[in-house]
Amino acid sequence: MDLIECTMDAPTHTRSPSRLPPVTRVQMDDYVPPKIACAWLGKPVVSVAQFDTASLECVATWSRALLSYSRATNKLTTTTYHHATAPLLPCCSELFAVSSFLKAAVEANTVPPLMRGKMLANVFYEASTRTMCSFAAAAQRLGGGVLPVSASSSSVKKGETLQDTMRCLECYADVLVLRHPVKGSAAIAAKYCENPVLNAGDGAGEHPTQALLDCYTIFSELGHLSGVTITMVGDLKYGRTVHSLSRLAALYGGVKLQLVSPAALALPQYVLDQIEACKCADLEITISETLSDEILAATDILYVTRIQKERFPSPEAAAPFLNAFIISPETLGKMKESARVMHPLPRVGEILEACDADPRAAYFRQMRNGMFVRMALLALATAEADTKSACM
Ligand code: NCD
Repeated sequence: MDLIECTMDAPTHTRSPSRLPPVTRVQMDDYVPPKIACAWLGKPVVSVAQFDTASLECVATWSRALLSYSRATNKLTTTTYHHATAPLLPCCSELFAVSSFLKAAVEANTVPPLMRGKMLANVFYEASTRTMCSFAAAAQRLGGGVLPVSASSSSVKKGETLQDTMRCLECYADVLVLRHPVKGSAAIAAKYCENPVLNAGDGAGEHPTQALLDCYTIFSELGHLSGVTITMVGDLKYGRTVHSLSRLAALYGGVKLQLVSPAALALPQYVLDQIEACKCADLEITISETLSDEILAATDILYVTRIQKERFPSPEAAAPFLNAFIISPETLGKMKESARVMHPLPRVGEILEACDADPRAAYFRQMRNGMFVRMALLALATAEADTKSACM
């Protein structure tokens, strides 16, 4: 039996079940989050294992619905698009479309109120700037309300279980976003909640909405994902963003993943097994401990991650890895002119600020894209019945 213990609000490096009372103890071997399969409405988003290329295309379908909304009426229409006749891949043009539409709508203050009367519970039991604020901004820009919840301000302090807290919050909210330090916690929440739960990072597990915005950014920057060489560098062991992005990118044809990390921080075997189970036939993976000139020269996307020091057993265990890779203008000099540098942020020294002025530095554009992708996800998760056809 797979048991998970949640020890919320634990200070860094003292998250030990023996010293802190377990808040949740749940049997996890009987919950599998549903496949999205072109119908996002009301579904939780716990893992990228739920996605296929068709579900990404569905985000594009929704984009078209948004576009037709923008074209005048006061109603969301979906008549312009028939999913069955659309090519499954690539969905880049539609994703460009939603980006342009939402950017323009935000700038012109003409965003359709797709969440009017709807409430988001934004539940963050771990530090966050971008993910928390982009979800909150997305909901509010769509006309919805936001209930911010943190461990210090909730009944977690009194020992309430995660599932009880989430079941309580869904009485007040139509959609719930959860960030939590324990891997598997989003699955627990989704198992117990009727309303959709969106995983905003579960410990060293996954970060599926980040992977969606990362893919969207690659589409936006390069125009395609097929055939792209992505170099993931840094802490691939504890970095949940790379766990999700590597699996999502593996769905696309001709993708090459160059995994660069110290041996002790390599992508876990279970993630490699998951990639193997879902990958496109021609996916190529290389593993290296050094960011060589050859690797840099072949790179289209350099995806840099920080060492996740809070997930190590102790600060001393993390110390030897802290400056393992530092991206400088000299590093960029070894890369293609068409390449891009991405980072989920926050950076803590692994990309020098001297790189920021280089047009290939895409990390701030990537961060901004997060709000647009999360607007689409929230709109999908809370759509009214008469807009359901947009994502069917
Ligand atoms: C990432 C996360 O929380 O996993 N940040 C984010 O969501 N933008 C990456 C990190 O913290 O290193």
